Amino acid sequence: MKILMIMSEMDGIVKTGGLADFGAALSGELTERGYDVRVAIPRYKDVVLSSPDPVPLYFNLNHYQPYGCLVHPVKLGPIAVRLIEHHDFFSRDGIYGYDNYSYPDNVLRYAFFCKAALEDCLHSQWIPDIVHCNDWQTALAPYYLKEHYPDPGPFGQTRSLLTIHNGEFQGKTDRKWLDAIGIRPDRFTSELMEEYGSLNPLKCGIMYADAINAVSPGYCRELLLPETSHNLWHYLNKRKDHFQGILNGCDYSQWDPETDPFIPHHFSPRDMTGKGLCKTVLQKRMGLAEKKELPLLGLVSRLAAQKGFDYLIPAIERLLYEDTPVQLALLGSGEPEYGSWLHHLQQRYPRKMGFVNGYDNGLSHLIEAGSDFFMMPSLFEPCGLNQLYSLAYGTLPIIRETGGLKDTVVPLGRDDATGICFSSPDTYSCFHGLKQAVSLYNDNRPLYLVVQQRAMGQLFTWQESAEKYGKLYQKLLEEHPSMTG
Ligand code: ADP
Ligand code: GLC
Repeated sequence: MKILMIMSEMDGIVKTGGLADFGAALSGELTERGYDVRVAIPRYKDVVLSSPDPVPLYFNLNHYQPYGCLVHPVKLGPIAVRLIEHHDFFSRDGIYGYDNYSYPDNVLRYAFFCKAALEDCLHSQWIPDIVHCNDWQTALAPYYLKEHYPDPGPFGQTRSLLTIHNGEFQGKTDRKWLDAIGIRPDRFTSELMEEYGSLNPLKCGIMYADAINAVSPGYCRELLLPETSHNLWHYLNKRKDHFQGILNGCDYSQWDPETDPFIPHHFSPRDMTGKGLCKTVLQKRMGLAEKKELPLLGLVSRLAAQKGFDYLIPAIERLLYEDTPVQLALLGSGEPEYGSWLHHLQQRYPRKMGFVNGYDNGLSHLIEAGSDFFMMPSLFEPCGLNQLYSLAYGTLPIIRETGGLKDTVVPLGRDDATGICFSSPDTYSCFHGLKQAVSLYNDNRPLYLVVQQRAMGQLFTWQESAEKYGKLYQKLLEEHPSMTG
């Protein structure tokens, strides 16, 4: 079966978050299982990978301006990748924008990318059975498949799947772009893609894709409810019969404390000595007092409201102000307001709190390894990968019960507990979650150690996820369920 995976990022090429991990891990797993997979991704400015023989490609996106680009067929390990190069669109500083501002022509950049990925298939005579799209950036591909190519035609048997990794980002934009991105005026309706006069590319993908999935069963359920769906519930309920949740996996080839090349000491459930040594290295690295007995709470995150910083930071502040016996090691990049708030807090309590404002893969592994707990109190979390890494490293996740977090962490108090959970998205509840962690560590170490062992025994494999995607692809090929086709 031929799968065209269209991604705006992929680990090993370019990454801002978990979407990139998903792209690399799922494509790798599917390739290993014998699927004929190609990943199409833009060749952004900092992408070093290229082919000595890029293929020129010319095509129409609209009826008035022809476009051209170069396609680099390359390999990322065993995975076949098609890098789409277009100087004006992708050789810019930043991926989605620069300096915290999105590029105003993003819809054109990604519409172009979607169409180029499909045209590349035609040009190379490799016709996918499934076009697997991811998030709003690639959500216009199902539209092009249905509206730009005649049926019967080369894509007549091709089916599309749209995976929603983050429904908050929908790519909403001015209707003035419609002509430029080749959308027929009669298709710009509230049933298909219009929303309060604007174009909503994610909605377009939801209505045109043959099937849709969310990255966890919990988030799938949330997306069907008005209060937790980022206003998508209405459209997703229309597609309910073709909408499901498939949980992400954890890439244990990258995240295994026994083999992780980024950490200074290895460990396993049988011998945890290395974890204690990693804690000391982490304390040194973050400028913290080297006290083994204090519980160390780690965090690695995009600095965004989604991750719960509006209530997490005040909760941390109170913890520090009350002189709780605890330490914190935080790594994050994103919205400058959260960065400076955390920076000021760190300045006030330098021996108790370390904060690195930036993106650092090596440090993220050290934080997972050296911390006793991992804070992930997200406001919403489609799946979340860091809590899976934390479980594998015996770093008990402290989570808010939402989306994929609730699906993967079992609250303290239950016999099969693997972490600490709270439910309300507010400072009070978050503070109590953090306090519960501190007292588990300081006052009931035997229980902490039992939960830690259990956490390390959890398995969330990409094999399992790939199995489910495989079944879904197969089902799609056996039916023709889209709303529009
Ligand atoms: P999201 O995709 O919403 O950001 P996930 O938990 O799914 O959340 O994935 C985040 C991924 O990005 C993880 O692999 C995490 O380690 C990584 N990451 C996030 N922020 C940073 C950072 N500042 N430095 C290094 N890695 C980071
Ligand atoms: C998004 C979500 C995150 C998920 C990731 C990969 O970035 O915010 O929860 O784990 O995509 O699917």
